Amino acid sequence: MESLFSTMIVLLLVSFSCLISTEALTSNYGNITVKWDLLNWTPDGYVAVVTAYNYQKQRSIPGWKMSWRGTKKEVIWNMLGAKTTGQGGCSMFKGNIPQSCVRKPTVVDLLPGTPFNQQIANCCKSGVLKPGSESAFQLSVGSAGNSVKTARMPANFMFTAPKQQYICGPSKNVRPTRFTTADKRRITAALMTWNITCVFHKAT
Ligand SMILES: *[C@@H]1O[C@H](CO)[C@@H](O)[C@H](O)[C@H]1NC(C)=O
Ligand SMILES: *[C@@H]1O[C@H](CO)[C@@H](O)[C@H](O)[C@H]1NC(C)=O
Repeated sequence: MESLFSTMIVLLLVSFSCLISTEALTSNYGNITVKWDLLNWTPDGYVAVVTAYNYQKQRSIPGWKMSWRGTKKEVIWNMLGAKTTGQGGCSMFKGNIPQSCVRKPTVVDLLPGTPFNQQIANCCKSGVLKPGSESAFQLSVGSAGNSVKTARMPANFMFTAPKQQYICGPSKNVRPTRFTTADKRRITAALMTWNITCVFHKAT
């Protein structure tokens, strides 16, 4: 009887915290949406462009950082438009060494003066994400799934900025983004698209 009672309490608490987290993710003041577009499969993973949209009407973000936990033992071979803050233990790799072997990589933006061959469109704004603007970077992920069935979304995604605290929801597998080629003659689509929505929680 007692254990049934405590099970019910636990269930109640769990459903209550779910309510809070979904509620927290809709805000009248807008959100940050981070979109992962997987563009190519590679022999050991994929190439993705990650774009953060600041849909907040008022709030500018100085110095964003993003971090997540890989659910396999993913590594980041290389990046354009951003970099990881640490490399971690890549000792199992010989010759070609990944940029990061950290289980929970943290990514920061690059400066506007970054050499062009390390940039992509919408990158390199020193981490400043103005209202209504977007920031993007590209990464090549290895030791990862390289098919729709085996690629795994990032877990525990976090979006942070100095003096601003955000809460992010889970990664969601959504309808793949469609792109129109520059000559508008062809529509292509991402292989997979994952969206994460984050809302401002409080100033710190
Ligand atoms: C985030 O904001 C955009 C733009 O206002 C909106 O279209 C989208 O539905 C919002 N996402 C969530 C999960 O509320
Ligand atoms: C995913 O995010 C992008 C960018 O905000 C948005 O255009 C798209 O509609 C979102 N997809 C879903 C299913 O929410």
